[in-house]
Amino acid sequence: MLERDEREKTGIRSLKVGYNRVFGYYIEVTKANLHLLQEGQYERKQTLSNAERFITPELKEKEDLILAAEEKSVELEYQLFTGIRETIKEYIPRLQKLARALSELDVLLGFAELSEQRQYVKPVFSAERKIVLKDGRHPVVEKVMDAQEYVPNDCYMDNEREVLLITGPNMSGKSTYMRQVALTAIMAQIGCFVPATEAVMPIFDQVFTRIGAADDLVSGQSTFMVEMLEAKNAITNATKDSLILFDEIGRGTSTYDGMALAQAMIEYIHDKISAKTLFSTHYHEMTSLESELQKLKNVHVSAVEQNGKVVFLHKIREGAADKSYGIHVAQLAELPADLIERAAEILHILEQTDTPVSLGSESQKSLDSVRETLQHEQDKQAILQAAETAAASQLSFFDEEPEKKKSSSASKKEKQVLDQLNGLEILDMTPLQAMNILYELQKKLRK
Ligand SMILES: Nc1ncnc2c1ncn2[C@@H]1O[C@H](COP(=O)(O)OP(=O)(O)O)[C@@H](O)[C@H]1O
Ligand SMILES: [Mg+2]
Repeated sequence: MLERDEREKTGIRSLKVGYNRVFGYYIEVTKANLHLLQEGQYERKQTLSNAERFITPELKEKEDLILAAEEKSVELEYQLFTGIRETIKEYIPRLQKLARALSELDVLLGFAELSEQRQYVKPVFSAERKIVLKDGRHPVVEKVMDAQEYVPNDCYMDNEREVLLITGPNMSGKSTYMRQVALTAIMAQIGCFVPATEAVMPIFDQVFTRIGAADDLVSGQSTFMVEMLEAKNAITNATKDSLILFDEIGRGTSTYDGMALAQAMIEYIHDKISAKTLFSTHYHEMTSLESELQKLKNVHVSAVEQNGKVVFLHKIREGAADKSYGIHVAQLAELPADLIERAAEILHILEQTDTPVSLGSESQKSLDSVRETLQHEQDKQAILQAAETAAASQLSFFDEEPEKKKSSSASKKEKQVLDQLNGLEILDMTPLQAMNILYELQKKLRK
């Protein structure tokens, strides 16, 4: 408006009305048109490179009006706001109640919709500490995977089946199975239907998990510490009404340590806590625990070999897994054929040799007898002799003609091992320490 009037009055078509924070509203005229402005009416405020900015009394008046209006509108807005706020204040308790009800409804609707879409079933809570899951699924893995592809699995546990020891090759679905049971329990307890065709569950007081970082091989030692801390948390706080998931515990440390710890934990849980426990392990030797621990049962995730390749069925079956299939997984990962062939060869040799890996009562007995012999004879020479023979036979795993290879480098290694053996205070050692040292020495010889 004002701009148009000023343009008409002065005849300057490029005349502009603008605003800045310092001068407020101004009229801007290019230098070329300055002579067209009437003397005395325009007060110069600012000079730019090719224009001048002016104010006029009329402009000031308008400015006051505009600014005052702005202030008034802000004030009015605030008044209205406080008015509404005051009115609403009385309704706050009712509104909050409504919000709570709505959010609850929202959650329940979410449950209902999901349960309907994915054919979940209503769980039944049992006071008998029983788990019966028919065709259970992992709600997330099932979702990201084609529904047809997901292999549903049962789970049965009761007072006679407190601990399930899960074996099976890598990638077969052990972790998925354990998580699916725990997720089902949690879903049931938050009031949702669950991914199964039938579900009976106890009400768990707590769920403990030791899962995941076992697969994180980057930070070996600290991972192991975390693992032990989490295990401790579970073992010290769990009750018979808890659910414990231990996924490949002990993987972060050396074989014997790991296996010994895993076994001790299972025994402790079995004997002292009796919490429902799913325990997966790659220590195949542990499956012999079934004969010693009454409420422990072996289950395994099955895989079949087809044309020398492994096919995962992802199906949980009773009993222990028979083979590790690790090499076949390597094959799936397309490691070089030569390497796979060599691994199969070594495996074959190892399978035919009785390696001292079992920590069951069997090897405990033999350790004890070794101790006894040592106590009787106190003859280090005999140990050295034995070690020498053992060393020679170890070497023969990897060499068709051990005699030829008894070269200087091998005997230097042997000498180191023998020296170390010689220095051991065997009577001061626990069986576990002895096994660890045996393991280390053997590793040295095999290098
Ligand atoms: N029941 C199942 N049906 C279909 N695929 C599965 C099933 N369980 C596991 N898988 C697939 O196998 C992969 C490996 O499973 P995972 O539980 O990590 O094996 P593990 O713990 O035995 O190494 C998963 O990422 C998933 O894609
Ligand atoms: Mg796993």
